[in-house]
Formats: sequence, C-alpha cells, structure tokens
Amino acid sequence: MGLKVARGCVSAIFPFFNFNNMFKKMLVLLVLVAVAIQFIRPDRSNPKVNPTEDLIAVANPPAEVQSILKKACYDCHSNETVWPWYTNITPVNWFVANHVKEGREKLNFSIFGSLSPADRSEALGEAAETIQEGEMPLESYTLLHPEAKLNATQRQTLLNWLQANGEQEGDAGTERQKTEEATENDED
Ligand code: HEC
Repeated sequence: MGLKVARGCVSAIFPFFNFNNMFKKMLVLLVLVAVAIQFIRPDRSNPKVNPTEDLIAVANPPAEVQSILKKACYDCHSNETVWPWYTNITPVNWFVANHVKEGREKLNFSIFGSLSPADRSEALGEAAETIQEGEMPLESYTLLHPEAKLNATQRQTLLNWLQANGEQEGDAGTERQKTEEATENDED
C-alpha cells in the first residue's frame, strides 16, 4: 500500500520514470550500499589534551602565530580536531580521519612538550619547509576551510617564527652533532 503511494508520487513527479528498468534497480542498490556503508566508521576520537604539553604553552609563540597555527594546522596536527558535520558521512569521514591520523603521526602539537629539545627544533624546521613549499595546510582542507588559507602576510609571519625557533636542513648537522657529542660524553 505504502509502496503503491510512493510509486504514484514518483510517477506524478517523473512521468517518464520506468520502475521496472535496470536504472531503477541500480539506483536502489546504490542507495542501499550508501546506507549500509554508514555503519563502517573510522575512529574520530580526540585523545585527551594535557595543556602544559601543548606547543602554545611550551614554545609560547606570539598571539598572531598562535591564531594562524590554530586555524590552519590544529585540526590535523593536534588532539583538538574539530570534526565538521560532513565527517559523519561515510566515505568522507575515512578521507578526513586518515588525514588527521597521518597528520598527528607526523607532527602533533598537543604533545610537543614531550619531545626532546632537538626533536622540537627539528619539527618546527620541518614545518617551516612545508610552508615554504606551499604543501601545508593541505589544499583539500583549505577548500572547505577558507579561513585556513594563509595570505602572504600570515605565511611570512608563521614562517619567520618557525624559522627562528626551528632548525632547518642546512643547519641541522651542527646542532645534531652537538647533542650527540653531549650524549656520548654523558655516557663516558
Ligand atoms: C587536512 C589536514 C592537514 C592540515 C590542516 C595540515 N596538515 Fe600537515 N600534514 C597532514 C598530513 C596528512 C601529513 C602527512 C602526509 C604528508 O606529508 O603529506 C602532514 C605532514 C606534515 C608535516 C611533515 C612533513 C614531512 O615531510 O614529514 C609537517 C611538518 C606539517 N604537516 C606541517 C603542517 C603545518 C605547519 C600546517 C599548518 C600551516 C599543517 N601541516 C596543516 C595533514 C594536514
């Protein structure tokens, strides 16, 4: 009965729609698959944040740099990810969750304080490189988060701070050698 009414409605709206053709079956199958995959969900949890370990507490960047990092990087490189409504939808959620997982693995500002001084410096140096090369923030992200798109001034502000506090490939050798020597001496 309900089905008949539904068919009647669809026929009224789309008079040329043939219910018995292949197209309809495909459509139904597609809808069923789309519904079924909604039950396959990635982990979208945010691990607990210890504010004293956060980059902002540890390295105390100027307010301007804090705000840039928060809006352009923290969704993928911290445990404070904001998950927008569309990340409830499979398969979008897999795509986003994967970026967050990989992003956190590479660089997690929420646990910055747990890194050794050498690793902190290296992380900020690497971050500077990704900004210089225009790799970060990811384009797929700024498409949906226009506020994360950095203008020339913001880019330079962020870059200056990262470079002043990070160690880049060029000067990596000397710094790392120093720490290694220091560790060796400690062991003696
Ligand atoms: C949409 C999520 C996302 C945003 C936003 C984002 N990143 Fe990333 N980031 C990733 C992913 C995923 C990777 C690992 C894959 C890769 O290197 O492309 C990564 C890798 C990195 C790496 C390691 C690069 C390497 O070669 O190992 C650094 C450093 C980095 N991001 C810095 C930043 C900075 C700084 C910002 C903000 C200006 C930022 N990211 C914004 C997702 C993101």
